[in-house]
Amino acid sequence: MRRVWTVLPETTRTEIADRVGGTSVTPAASGDHAEIAAAVAGSKGQVFVKAASSELGVRSLRYELLVSKAVDRSYSPAVEWHFERDGWLVVGFEHLDGLHADLSPGSPDLDLLGLAVKELGQTPAQGQTWFSPAARLGFAHPAMDGEMLVHTDLNPANLIVVRHGLRIVDWAYATKAAPWVELGLLVQWLIGSGHTPEQAEDWLARFPAWTATDPDVLNAFASMNATKWSVKSRTSKDAWVHDLAAWTDKWAAYRRVRYPQT
Ligand SMILES: Nc1ncnc2c1ncn2[C@@H]1O[C@H](COP(=O)(O)OP(=O)(O)O)[C@@H](O)[C@H]1O
Ligand SMILES: [Mg+2]
Repeated sequence: MRRVWTVLPETTRTEIADRVGGTSVTPAASGDHAEIAAAVAGSKGQVFVKAASSELGVRSLRYELLVSKAVDRSYSPAVEWHFERDGWLVVGFEHLDGLHADLSPGSPDLDLLGLAVKELGQTPAQGQTWFSPAARLGFAHPAMDGEMLVHTDLNPANLIVVRHGLRIVDWAYATKAAPWVELGLLVQWLIGSGHTPEQAEDWLARFPAWTATDPDVLNAFASMNATKWSVKSRTSKDAWVHDLAAWTDKWAAYRRVRYPQT
């Protein structure tokens, strides 16, 4: 849950100001997971600061920090610095100048997404303990297990189109899994951006990891994902939960008709 910048202790704000050369703070307008998420500008440039003090928040940000350092690829913002002080973990990421990706049918951002996702799908998850698919998603299938880095939350607010391509932020839920899992989780955002399930699958057909996955496995995945969000939506008033329930249901329903179980 997002909090205001001024909850940061004075000493912590001063340390950030020293590192950036001033503090002109612009809170992030999207996302809601991180306690503090804001662009900070000063005489030494601009950084994107995420900070946490709650037990869960620190655990999550510490994980995100480790992942971000381990990834070190062009599609992911670099970690500029980090420190801990007065109970706060503070991370300064490379600031990305750009707008969120538009994933509607025909958008040129889809080609940029395709390039980033291709590179992501070839990145092994190495060097630390990662979320398993079951721990991350709350449902499991043996075919979901694998060795690759899977971001698992490629919603448009986590995709920033910069001058030289598309960047992926918010690595707090990165998972070690089979690469097709990324694509299975992307379907909901493509549908939420205006694709029909058929259009979404047509777009995904460019990825060998998608076409090589057994249709029965994709059916099981679509169905378990839809069930998860349907169950969540029964007890949630959050619009985004209901949106995800509707989008995942649309995909699962499409697959039941298009690819009846063999
Ligand atoms: N490195 C960055 N540079 C510029 N903007 C960023 C950066 N990282 C995140 N953002 C923006 O801030 C928002 C919230 O950050 P995010 O890491 O997604 O936090 P949350 O966990 O709250 O979703 C993102 O939706 C994006 O618009
Ligand atoms: Mg986010």
